[in-house]
Amino acid sequence: MRKLLTLIAFAAIAGILLLSSAATGRPAGQDQVQPVGTTGAAGDHRNLAGFDAQIRANADRMLEEGRQIFRFDTFGDEAYWGDQLQLHRAVVGAKLGGVGPGLSPKMALSLGLKVDADALPPDLVTAIKAGNVDLDDPASTVALLKARAVVGVSAFLNPDGSARSVGIQCALCHSTVDDSFAPGIGHRLDGWPNRDLNVGEIVALAPNLKPLTDLLGVDDPAVRKVLKSWGPGRYDAELNQDGKAAGPKGRSAATVLPAAFGLAGVNLHTYSGWGAVPYWNAYVANTQMHGKGTFFDPRLKDKDRFPVAAKAGYADVRNTPDLITPKLAALQYYQLSIPPPAPPAGSFDAQSAQRGKSVFESQAKCSTCHVPPIFSEPGWSMHKADEIGIDEFQSDRSPDKRYRTTPLRGLFVRAKGGFYHDGRFPTLAAVVDHYNDHLKLNLNAQQKADLIEFLKSL
Ligand code: HEC
Ligand code: HEC
Repeated sequence: MRKLLTLIAFAAIAGILLLSSAATGRPAGQDQVQPVGTTGAAGDHRNLAGFDAQIRANADRMLEEGRQIFRFDTFGDEAYWGDQLQLHRAVVGAKLGGVGPGLSPKMALSLGLKVDADALPPDLVTAIKAGNVDLDDPASTVALLKARAVVGVSAFLNPDGSARSVGIQCALCHSTVDDSFAPGIGHRLDGWPNRDLNVGEIVALAPNLKPLTDLLGVDDPAVRKVLKSWGPGRYDAELNQDGKAAGPKGRSAATVLPAAFGLAGVNLHTYSGWGAVPYWNAYVANTQMHGKGTFFDPRLKDKDRFPVAAKAGYADVRNTPDLITPKLAALQYYQLSIPPPAPPAGSFDAQSAQRGKSVFESQAKCSTCHVPPIFSEPGWSMHKADEIGIDEFQSDRSPDKRYRTTPLRGLFVRAKGGFYHDGRFPTLAAVVDHYNDHLKLNLNAQQKADLIEFLKSL
């Protein structure tokens, strides 16, 4: 009875709204106090007035600034990668005043570095197409760096054109390209994790790893061994806090590079929920990229859990000038604007996915944690390892000792390298089997297949 009354009341209100909108010529629910002469159409802000116009202008500015920061800002980290580690010398090679054979474009691509085709000057495009660019010559890599075409890597040059230093950006790990020009060369895809990128091998090219050996308290070969143990698409963002290089069964402690899209509306970020996007951006820019900024997290003072951080003073980092903090707002805004990419047409069976949706939401209990449409829990989305049936090695490395429910949209982008924080499940079928066992779901073969199609459709 009460339900019926509510329904009638709702219908009456909707009716009134409809009538009033017919009278004003505006659709129901739209702002009733718009200035005369505005259309209010989404995306058209030329006619916005007053503070509304300021909000829109601010949004546009933050988006554009954030994109630039995400792609091109080193936050001054060239003082570390270039000046200290001397990475640029290994890139250019002995012939161009550096050390060793140098990094040819072929090698760079095989290490998973990506080239932004839109940044290539037309003459370079013509030369590449005509086969006139020597892809075995490090000088060609230098040409690409000069064109700002190597995703996530910036070269700093001397007045005579020789390399002075090198820095890295967020895009190094969190962007890839669509291969439209050639494998590894294409339009940028910001937020898509680069699961080809071998961060460890790239860092291990550096002639001087003393900053790392001093910090970790081990010798040069030991550091190189750890770096080389990560493999493609992986990085360990906690190694220089806790010094743990290997997990259970001697597996590398690195995690797979996560998606940096589809994160809006999600409260906590990283696999183990260290904090939200602006927390983590400050963490990474200061303590991982070694940019020059400010970072404060007294949780890292715990000498037992984070001995390396305690030694390095990562709980309280202060630099003047601060090249990071003024960029956090725009950087966060840009990241939260990156939508999850839609799965390619024909990459899943729509009917089966439709059936899989009901499995996800009922018998398989997935949606109790992966709540649509964000596919993580609104609120504090953290779980103990035993709730999801895995070991606690990685969760125990984080302040809250838990795993965060991963948002699931755009899963197809991160299939390479496997699922879960360490890529332990090579396929979605393996993930579903794991939950079926652990949560005793009793799914039959058809339900499992439908569930997988649904996951592929997200
Ligand atoms: C060297 C590779 C690398 C670079 C450079 C890097 N990240 Fe990450 N990023 C990672 C890894 C690995 C993780 C996962 C860490 C974890 O969960 O412990 C991560 C996690 C994240 C997350 C959390 C994603 C989620 O699922 O919640 C965000 C957001 C992020 N990074 C943004 C950035 C931004 C912004 C920058 C530049 C300031 C940046 N990263 C630079 C490797 C990198
Ligand atoms: C108790 C909460 C919970 C339930 C129930 C749950 N998940 Fe998860 N899910 C998580 C957490 C936490 C992670 C992160 C695990 C990690 O990274 O190690 C995760 C990760 C995943 C991933 C990997 C995403 C990636 O990018 O690596 C997939 C896929 C997934 N879940 C699908 C499902 C499906 C399908 C179900 C139902 C059968 C389900 N989950 C039920 C909490 C849950």
